[in-house]
Amino acid sequence: MPKARNKQLGDAKKAKKDEFYTQLCDIERELRHYEHHFRGKTVLCNCDDPRVSNFFHYFSYKFEDLGLKRLVTTCYKNQERDLFSQNNSERAIWLEYLGDKNGNRVPDPEEIGIRYFNGDGDFRSDECIELLKQADIIVTNPPFSLFIEYIRQLVRYDKKFLVIGPQNAIHYKDTFELIKANRMWLGYGFTDGNAFFAIPKENMREFANGVYDPDKGLVKFRNCTWFTNLDHEKRHEEYVFIRKYRPDDYPKYTNFDAIDVGKSADIPEDWGGLMGVPDTFLEKYNPDQFEIVGLGSGDLAKQIGVKKNYRGRTDVAYRIDGKDKCPYSRIIIRRRAK
Ligand SMILES: C[S@@+](CC[C@H](N)C(=O)[O-])C[C@H]1O[C@@H](n2cnc3c(N)ncnc32)[C@H](O)[C@@H]1O
Repeated sequence: MPKARNKQLGDAKKAKKDEFYTQLCDIERELRHYEHHFRGKTVLCNCDDPRVSNFFHYFSYKFEDLGLKRLVTTCYKNQERDLFSQNNSERAIWLEYLGDKNGNRVPDPEEIGIRYFNGDGDFRSDECIELLKQADIIVTNPPFSLFIEYIRQLVRYDKKFLVIGPQNAIHYKDTFELIKANRMWLGYGFTDGNAFFAIPKENMREFANGVYDPDKGLVKFRNCTWFTNLDHEKRHEEYVFIRKYRPDDYPKYTNFDAIDVGKSADIPEDWGGLMGVPDTFLEKYNPDQFEIVGLGSGDLAKQIGVKKNYRGRTDVAYRIDGKDKCPYSRIIIRRRAK
C-alpha cells in the first residue's frame, strides 16, 4: 500500500480512537476542587463540539457561580465526513458565551454567539491559537493521540490548564520533565481510577467483558487521569508514613543506588536516600515533602545514572531470593529535608 494511503488510514484509526466524550458527573467531580481559580477568567475548551461537549455544558451553566468572564468553545471539523460534527457544515465553528443576559441563569441559544472558522478548528491552527492566547484557563479532554503535542502547546503559551490525558503520559519525556519540575501535576482523578466515557455509535467495536456497558452506552478506561497546573488542596496534604526502613523489606537496586518501594503507601519514614516508587505515588505527591529525581526506566533513567540491568536495559532491577527482578515502572524520589 502506498505510504500516503497508509498514513491516511492510520490517522483515521487514531481519529476514531480519539472520539469519546466525558461525562458531566466526572467534570463536576473534578472541577469542584478548583472553583476559586475561575473568577474573572476566560475559559477555553478547544477540543469540544458544543453540541455534545459536557465541558461546554458545565461552564455555561456554572458561568455565574464561577464568576467567569468569557467562555469559548471550539469544535474540530474532522476530515472524515461527519465523524465528529453531527451537522452537515464543512466548516468548523466556535462558540462564545458571555453569561446570562435575560436573568434566567440558563445559557439560551440567543445568548450564545456562533462563529465560523476558515479552517477545520484544529487546536494547532492559527485561528485556534489566537483564541488560546486570549484564554486564561484551558479545560478539556483532548485527543489522546496528540496529547504530548497538546500539552507542549499549552506550555509554550504559558497557559493554566486542567485536562484529561492518558496515564502513560507520566513516562513521556516532555510530560515527565514538567511533573518533575512541578510545572504540572495530577488532579484528583476518576473514582477508583475508572473513567467511563460515551462513544458514538459509529465507533462501536468489540470490547472485552466488562468494558462496555450497553445500558448506559459507556466504555470503561482504566488508563486516564486529570493533568493540571492549577494548585489544589490534595497536593498539600501531608503524606502519612506507616513504615520504617528494614533492609529485608526494601531491596536495593543492583544497577542504581536506591531502594525499591513496592507500594506507594510503604515509603519508609526514616530512609533519607533515593527510592523507586510506583506511578501511584503521584496521586499522593506533596512537593513540600518529596522531590522527584527522575524515572527508573528508559532513556530518562540513563540521565540519572541507572546502569544496564541483567536484561541489558536501563531499568532499575534488584535481586531477591537468588532471582533478578525488574519492577514495572518506577519513579525515583527522595524526601526533602525538613
Ligand atoms: C477524547 S475526545 C473528547 C471530546 C470532548 N472534549 C469531551 O471530553 O467530551 C477528543 C476530541 O478532540 C477532537 N480532536 C481530534 N483532533 C483534534 C485537533 N487536531 N484539534 C482539535 N480537536 C481535535 C476529536 O474530534 C474529539 O472529539
